[in-house]
Amino acid sequence: MSDATTVTVLGAGTMGAGIAQACAAAGHAVTVVDRQPEALERCLATVDASLERLVRKGTMSDDAAAQARARIAVTTDLAASVGGAAIVIEAVYEDLATKQALWRQVDSHAPAEALRATNTSSLSVTEIAQASSRPERFCGLHFFNPVPVLPLVEVVRAERTSPATLDEAVAFATAIGKTPIVCGDTPGFIVNRLLIPYVNDAVHALGEGVARAADIDTAMKLGANLPMGPLALADLIGLDVTLAVIESLHRETADPRFRPAVRLRQLVRAGKLGRKTGEGFHRYE
Ligand code: CAA
Repeated sequence: MSDATTVTVLGAGTMGAGIAQACAAAGHAVTVVDRQPEALERCLATVDASLERLVRKGTMSDDAAAQARARIAVTTDLAASVGGAAIVIEAVYEDLATKQALWRQVDSHAPAEALRATNTSSLSVTEIAQASSRPERFCGLHFFNPVPVLPLVEVVRAERTSPATLDEAVAFATAIGKTPIVCGDTPGFIVNRLLIPYVNDAVHALGEGVARAADIDTAMKLGANLPMGPLALADLIGLDVTLAVIESLHRETADPRFRPAVRLRQLVRAGKLGRKTGEGFHRYE
Protein backbone atom coordinates (compact mmCIF):
# COMPACT_ATOMS: atom_id res chain seq x y z
CA MET A 1 0.00 0.00 0.00
CA SER A 2 1.44 3.38 -0.95
CA ASP A 3 0.20 5.21 2.16
CA ALA A 4 -1.74 3.43 4.89
CA THR A 5 -2.12 6.49 7.03
CA THR A 6 -5.30 7.91 5.52
CA VAL A 7 -8.32 5.76 6.22
CA THR A 8 -11.89 6.55 5.25
CA VAL A 9 -14.63 4.67 7.08
CA LEU A 10 -18.03 4.66 5.38
CA GLY A 11 -20.89 4.38 7.86
CA ALA A 12 -20.99 5.81 11.39
CA GLY A 13 -22.80 2.96 13.14
CA THR A 14 -21.44 0.74 15.91
CA MET A 15 -18.96 -1.01 13.62
CA GLY A 16 -17.89 2.17 11.82
CA ALA A 17 -17.16 3.84 15.15
CA GLY A 18 -15.18 0.85 16.42
CA ILE A 19 -13.17 0.51 13.20
CA ALA A 20 -12.40 4.24 13.17
CA GLN A 21 -11.23 4.06 16.78
CA ALA A 22 -8.99 1.05 16.16
CA CYS A 23 -7.38 2.69 13.13
CA ALA A 24 -6.90 6.03 14.92
CA ALA A 25 -5.43 4.34 17.99
CA ALA A 26 -2.85 2.76 15.67
CA GLY A 27 -1.81 6.18 14.37
CA HIS A 28 -3.87 6.50 11.18
CA ALA A 29 -5.75 9.65 10.22
CA VAL A 30 -9.37 8.58 9.91
CA THR A 31 -12.38 10.22 8.34
CA VAL A 32 -15.81 8.77 9.06
CA VAL A 33 -18.48 9.50 6.46
CA ASP A 34 -22.22 9.26 6.90
CA ARG A 35 -25.18 10.92 5.23
CA GLN A 36 -26.73 11.70 8.62
CA PRO A 37 -25.01 14.34 10.82
CA GLU A 38 -26.72 12.84 13.92
CA ALA A 39 -25.12 9.47 13.17
CA LEU A 40 -21.72 11.17 13.06
CA GLU A 41 -22.37 12.78 16.44
CA ARG A 42 -23.38 9.44 17.91
CA CYS A 43 -20.27 7.87 16.41
CA LEU A 44 -18.00 10.38 18.17
CA ALA A 45 -19.87 9.89 21.43
CA THR A 46 -19.35 6.11 21.09
CA VAL A 47 -15.63 6.60 20.48
CA ASP A 48 -15.36 9.00 23.44
CA ALA A 49 -17.10 6.53 25.76
CA SER A 50 -14.93 3.65 24.60
CA LEU A 51 -11.66 5.59 24.92
CA GLU A 52 -12.70 6.77 28.36
CA ARG A 53 -13.31 3.16 29.37
CA LEU A 54 -9.90 2.08 28.09
CA VAL A 55 -8.25 4.93 30.03
CA ARG A 56 -10.23 4.12 33.18
CA LYS A 57 -9.11 0.49 32.99
CA GLY A 58 -5.50 1.55 32.46
CA THR A 59 -5.36 -0.10 29.02
CA MET A 60 -4.60 3.24 27.36
CA SER A 61 -2.94 6.43 28.61
CA ASP A 62 -4.80 9.73 28.69
CA ASP A 63 -2.41 11.12 26.09
CA ALA A 64 -2.78 8.19 23.70
CA ALA A 65 -6.58 8.43 23.96
CA ALA A 66 -6.54 12.18 23.27
CA GLN A 67 -4.24 11.66 20.28
CA ALA A 68 -6.41 8.88 18.87
CA ARG A 69 -9.51 11.02 19.25
CA ALA A 70 -7.80 13.96 17.52
CA ARG A 71 -7.06 11.76 14.51
CA ILE A 72 -10.77 11.14 13.84
CA ALA A 73 -12.65 13.57 11.61
CA VAL A 74 -16.27 13.22 10.54
CA THR A 75 -18.02 14.48 7.43
CA THR A 76 -21.08 14.07 5.23
CA ASP A 77 -18.98 14.82 2.14
CA LEU A 78 -18.17 11.47 0.56
CA ALA A 79 -16.29 12.80 -2.46
CA ALA A 80 -13.87 14.89 -0.40
CA SER A 81 -13.26 12.19 2.19
CA VAL A 82 -12.32 9.39 -0.20
CA GLY A 83 -10.32 11.63 -2.55
CA GLY A 84 -7.04 11.12 -0.71
CA ALA A 85 -7.73 7.80 1.00
CA ALA A 86 -5.18 5.01 1.00
CA ILE A 87 -7.81 2.64 2.33
CA VAL A 88 -11.60 2.83 2.29
CA ILE A 89 -13.50 0.57 4.70
CA GLU A 90 -17.26 0.37 4.25
CA ALA A 91 -19.47 -0.52 7.20
CA VAL A 92 -22.94 0.61 6.17
CA TYR A 93 -26.29 -1.13 6.53
CA GLU A 94 -26.36 -4.78 5.40
CA ASP A 95 -28.16 -4.26 2.10
CA LEU A 96 -26.53 -5.25 -1.19
CA ALA A 97 -28.10 -2.47 -3.28
CA THR A 98 -27.12 0.18 -0.71
CA LYS A 99 -23.54 -1.07 -0.53
CA GLN A 100 -23.16 -1.38 -4.31
CA ALA A 101 -24.58 2.11 -4.92
CA LEU A 102 -22.16 3.51 -2.36
CA TRP A 103 -19.18 1.72 -3.88
CA ARG A 104 -20.06 3.06 -7.34
CA GLN A 105 -19.91 6.56 -5.86
CA VAL A 106 -16.66 5.83 -4.01
CA ASP A 107 -15.07 4.54 -7.20
CA SER A 108 -15.59 7.80 -9.03
CA HIS A 109 -13.71 9.74 -6.32
CA ALA A 110 -11.19 7.38 -4.68
CA PRO A 111 -7.64 6.96 -5.95
CA ALA A 112 -7.42 3.95 -8.29
CA GLU A 113 -4.78 2.32 -6.08
CA ALA A 114 -6.74 2.72 -2.81
CA LEU A 115 -7.43 -0.51 -0.98
CA ARG A 116 -11.18 -1.12 -0.89
CA ALA A 117 -12.71 -3.21 1.88
CA THR A 118 -16.18 -4.05 3.11
CA ASN A 119 -17.00 -5.04 6.68
CA THR A 120 -20.04 -7.01 5.53
CA SER A 121 -21.05 -9.82 7.85
CA SER A 122 -23.76 -11.43 5.73
CA LEU A 123 -23.31 -10.54 2.07
CA SER A 124 -20.97 -11.84 -0.61
CA VAL A 125 -17.83 -9.71 -0.84
CA THR A 126 -17.47 -10.80 -4.48
CA GLU A 127 -20.94 -9.49 -5.26
CA ILE A 128 -20.36 -6.15 -3.51
CA ALA A 129 -17.02 -5.83 -5.35
CA GLN A 130 -18.82 -6.14 -8.69
CA ALA A 131 -19.95 -2.54 -8.16
CA SER A 132 -16.31 -1.42 -8.13
CA SER A 133 -14.22 -0.84 -11.23
CA ARG A 134 -11.24 -2.19 -9.23
CA PRO A 135 -12.43 -5.58 -7.92
CA GLU A 136 -8.80 -6.75 -7.73
CA ARG A 137 -8.25 -4.01 -5.08
CA PHE A 138 -11.31 -5.16 -3.13
CA CYS A 139 -11.54 -7.55 -0.17
CA GLY A 140 -13.43 -8.11 3.06
CA LEU A 141 -12.12 -6.77 6.39
CA HIS A 142 -14.55 -8.20 8.90
CA PHE A 143 -14.24 -6.81 12.43
CA PHE A 144 -15.97 -8.02 15.60
CA ASN A 145 -18.06 -6.12 18.11
CA PRO A 146 -16.80 -4.50 20.33
CA VAL A 147 -14.02 -3.67 17.87
CA PRO A 148 -11.73 -1.96 20.42
CA VAL A 149 -11.68 -5.18 22.48
CA LEU A 150 -11.87 -8.14 20.08
CA PRO A 151 -8.58 -8.86 18.29
CA LEU A 152 -9.81 -10.83 15.25
CA VAL A 153 -10.20 -9.53 11.71
CA GLU A 154 -11.35 -11.94 9.01
CA VAL A 155 -9.63 -10.94 5.77
CA VAL A 156 -11.93 -12.18 3.05
CA ARG A 157 -10.50 -13.19 -0.29
CA ALA A 158 -13.19 -12.46 -2.88
CA GLU A 159 -13.10 -14.17 -6.29
CA ARG A 160 -11.27 -11.29 -7.92
CA THR A 161 -9.10 -10.06 -5.00
CA SER A 162 -5.47 -9.91 -6.14
CA PRO A 163 -2.78 -11.62 -4.03
CA ALA A 164 -1.10 -8.20 -3.48
CA THR A 165 -4.38 -6.74 -2.18
CA LEU A 166 -4.80 -9.63 0.21
CA ASP A 167 -1.24 -9.21 1.50
CA GLU A 168 -1.82 -5.48 2.04
CA ALA A 169 -5.06 -6.12 3.89
CA VAL A 170 -3.34 -8.65 6.17
CA ALA A 171 -0.49 -6.18 6.80
CA PHE A 172 -2.96 -3.38 7.55
CA ALA A 173 -4.94 -5.49 10.04
CA THR A 174 -1.70 -6.53 11.74
CA ALA A 175 -0.47 -2.94 11.88
CA ILE A 176 -3.60 -1.82 13.75
CA GLY A 177 -2.94 -4.50 16.35
CA LYS A 178 -5.47 -7.05 15.17
CA THR A 179 -4.97 -10.72 14.37
CA PRO A 180 -5.94 -11.35 10.74
CA ILE A 181 -7.20 -14.71 9.52
CA VAL A 182 -7.62 -15.16 5.76
CA CYS A 183 -10.78 -16.90 4.63
CA GLY A 184 -12.78 -17.48 1.47
CA ASP A 185 -15.92 -15.62 0.48
CA THR A 186 -18.35 -18.18 1.85
CA PRO A 187 -21.58 -17.39 3.77
CA GLY A 188 -20.75 -16.24 7.30
CA PHE A 189 -17.00 -16.62 6.68
CA ILE A 190 -15.66 -18.46 9.78
CA VAL A 191 -17.01 -16.86 12.93
CA ASN A 192 -20.56 -16.08 11.85
CA ARG A 193 -20.86 -19.48 10.13
CA LEU A 194 -20.41 -21.06 13.56
CA LEU A 195 -21.58 -18.39 16.01
CA ILE A 196 -24.83 -17.12 14.49
CA PRO A 197 -26.50 -20.56 14.12
CA TYR A 198 -25.81 -21.03 17.84
CA VAL A 199 -27.39 -17.65 18.65
CA ASN A 200 -30.35 -18.42 16.36
CA ASP A 201 -30.74 -21.81 18.07
CA ALA A 202 -30.97 -20.05 21.43
CA VAL A 203 -33.89 -18.03 20.04
CA HIS A 204 -35.54 -21.28 18.88
CA ALA A 205 -35.01 -22.64 22.42
CA LEU A 206 -36.62 -19.50 23.85
CA GLY A 207 -39.59 -19.97 21.50
CA GLU A 208 -39.92 -23.62 22.53
CA GLY A 209 -40.20 -22.55 26.16
CA VAL A 210 -36.97 -24.23 27.20
CA ALA A 211 -36.29 -21.39 29.69
CA ARG A 212 -36.58 -17.62 30.14
CA ALA A 213 -34.17 -15.38 28.22
CA ALA A 214 -32.20 -14.45 31.35
CA ASP A 215 -31.85 -18.12 32.32
CA ILE A 216 -30.71 -19.22 28.84
CA ASP A 217 -28.01 -16.56 29.04
CA THR A 218 -26.97 -17.45 32.58
CA ALA A 219 -26.85 -21.13 31.66
CA MET A 220 -24.41 -20.58 28.81
CA LYS A 221 -22.28 -18.17 30.84
CA LEU A 222 -21.97 -20.42 33.84
CA GLY A 223 -22.20 -23.81 32.14
CA ALA A 224 -20.02 -23.13 29.11
CA ASN A 225 -17.87 -20.35 30.57
CA LEU A 226 -18.73 -17.92 27.76
CA PRO A 227 -18.33 -14.17 28.35
CA MET A 228 -22.02 -13.58 27.70
CA GLY A 229 -25.13 -15.60 26.92
CA PRO A 230 -26.40 -16.02 23.33
CA LEU A 231 -29.42 -13.71 23.66
CA ALA A 232 -27.37 -10.95 25.27
CA LEU A 233 -24.88 -11.49 22.46
CA ALA A 234 -27.64 -11.10 19.85
CA ASP A 235 -28.57 -7.82 21.57
CA LEU A 236 -24.93 -6.69 21.36
CA ILE A 237 -24.53 -7.66 17.69
CA GLY A 238 -27.91 -6.17 16.80
CA LEU A 239 -30.93 -8.33 16.04
CA ASP A 240 -31.14 -6.92 12.51
CA VAL A 241 -27.55 -7.97 11.81
CA THR A 242 -28.10 -11.36 13.47
CA LEU A 243 -31.19 -11.94 11.32
CA ALA A 244 -29.36 -10.81 8.18
CA VAL A 245 -26.59 -13.33 8.82
CA ILE A 246 -28.85 -16.30 9.55
CA GLU A 247 -31.05 -15.42 6.55
CA SER A 248 -28.00 -15.29 4.36
CA LEU A 249 -26.78 -18.70 5.59
CA HIS A 250 -30.27 -20.12 4.98
CA ARG A 251 -30.63 -18.52 1.54
CA GLU A 252 -27.16 -19.46 0.31
CA THR A 253 -27.14 -23.06 1.52
CA ALA A 254 -30.87 -23.94 1.68
CA ASP A 255 -29.88 -25.92 4.78
CA PRO A 256 -32.81 -26.21 7.22
CA ARG A 257 -30.33 -26.02 10.11
CA PHE A 258 -30.17 -22.29 9.41
CA ARG A 259 -33.94 -21.60 9.55
CA PRO A 260 -34.34 -18.14 11.14
CA ALA A 261 -36.13 -18.22 14.50
CA VAL A 262 -39.58 -16.63 14.35
CA ARG A 263 -39.03 -14.53 17.48
CA LEU A 264 -35.91 -12.97 15.97
CA ARG A 265 -37.87 -11.71 12.97
CA GLN A 266 -40.73 -10.50 15.20
CA LEU A 267 -38.41 -8.37 17.31
CA VAL A 268 -36.67 -6.93 14.23
CA ARG A 269 -40.04 -6.01 12.72
CA ALA A 270 -40.93 -4.21 15.97
CA GLY A 271 -37.69 -2.18 15.81
CA LYS A 272 -36.38 -3.93 18.93
CA LEU A 273 -32.85 -4.37 17.65
CA GLY A 274 -30.99 -4.91 20.93
CA ARG A 275 -28.66 -2.54 22.75
CA LYS A 276 -28.64 0.08 20.03
CA THR A 277 -32.39 0.68 20.37
CA GLY A 278 -32.57 0.03 24.12
CA GLU A 279 -34.49 -3.24 23.83
CA GLY A 280 -34.07 -6.68 22.30
CA PHE A 281 -34.22 -9.89 24.29
CA HIS A 282 -33.33 -7.71 27.27
CA ARG A 283 -33.92 -4.04 28.14
CA TYR A 284 -31.11 -1.49 28.41
CA GLU A 285 -31.00 1.87 30.14
N1 CAA B 1 -14.74 -0.15 24.35
C1 CAA B 1 -13.65 -0.29 25.12
N2 CAA B 1 -13.51 -1.24 26.04
C2 CAA B 1 -14.56 -2.08 26.21
C3 CAA B 1 -15.73 -1.99 25.45
C4 CAA B 1 -15.80 -0.97 24.48
N3 CAA B 1 -16.86 -0.82 23.70
N4 CAA B 1 -16.57 -2.99 25.84
C5 CAA B 1 -15.93 -3.67 26.80
N5 CAA B 1 -14.72 -3.12 27.03
C6 CAA B 1 -13.70 -3.61 27.94
C7 CAA B 1 -14.01 -3.34 29.38
O1 CAA B 1 -13.58 -2.06 29.76
C8 CAA B 1 -13.24 -4.44 30.06
O2 CAA B 1 -11.87 -4.11 30.18
P1 CAA B 1 -10.88 -4.89 31.22
O3 CAA B 1 -10.79 -6.31 30.77
O4 CAA B 1 -9.62 -4.14 31.09
O5 CAA B 1 -11.56 -4.75 32.56
C9 CAA B 1 -13.36 -5.60 29.12
O6 CAA B 1 -13.64 -5.03 27.83
C10 CAA B 1 -14.48 -6.50 29.52
O7 CAA B 1 -15.67 -5.74 29.64
P2 CAA B 1 -16.66 -5.77 30.90
O8 CAA B 1 -15.89 -6.04 32.12
O9 CAA B 1 -17.54 -4.57 30.84
O10 CAA B 1 -17.67 -6.90 30.59
P3 CAA B 1 -17.40 -8.32 30.05
O11 CAA B 1 -16.26 -8.94 30.75
O12 CAA B 1 -18.72 -8.98 30.02
O13 CAA B 1 -16.94 -8.06 28.55
C11 CAA B 1 -17.46 -8.08 26.28
C12 CAA B 1 -17.76 -7.44 27.62
C13 CAA B 1 -16.07 -7.66 25.83
C14 CAA B 1 -18.50 -7.55 25.29
C15 CAA B 1 -17.53 -9.63 26.45
O14 CAA B 1 -18.73 -9.98 27.06
C16 CAA B 1 -17.41 -10.36 25.14
O15 CAA B 1 -16.34 -10.52 24.58
N6 CAA B 1 -18.57 -10.86 24.65
C17 CAA B 1 -18.63 -11.60 23.40
C18 CAA B 1 -18.60 -10.65 22.26
C19 CAA B 1 -18.63 -11.36 20.94
O16 CAA B 1 -18.72 -12.56 20.81
N7 CAA B 1 -18.54 -10.53 19.88
C20 CAA B 1 -18.57 -11.03 18.52
C21 CAA B 1 -19.94 -10.82 17.97
S1 CAA B 1 -20.01 -11.37 16.30
C22 CAA B 1 -19.60 -10.00 15.43
O17 CAA B 1 -19.37 -8.95 15.90
C23 CAA B 1 -19.49 -10.20 13.97
C24 CAA B 1 -20.69 -10.01 13.19
O18 CAA B 1 -20.55 -9.80 12.00
C25 CAA B 1 -22.05 -10.17 13.71
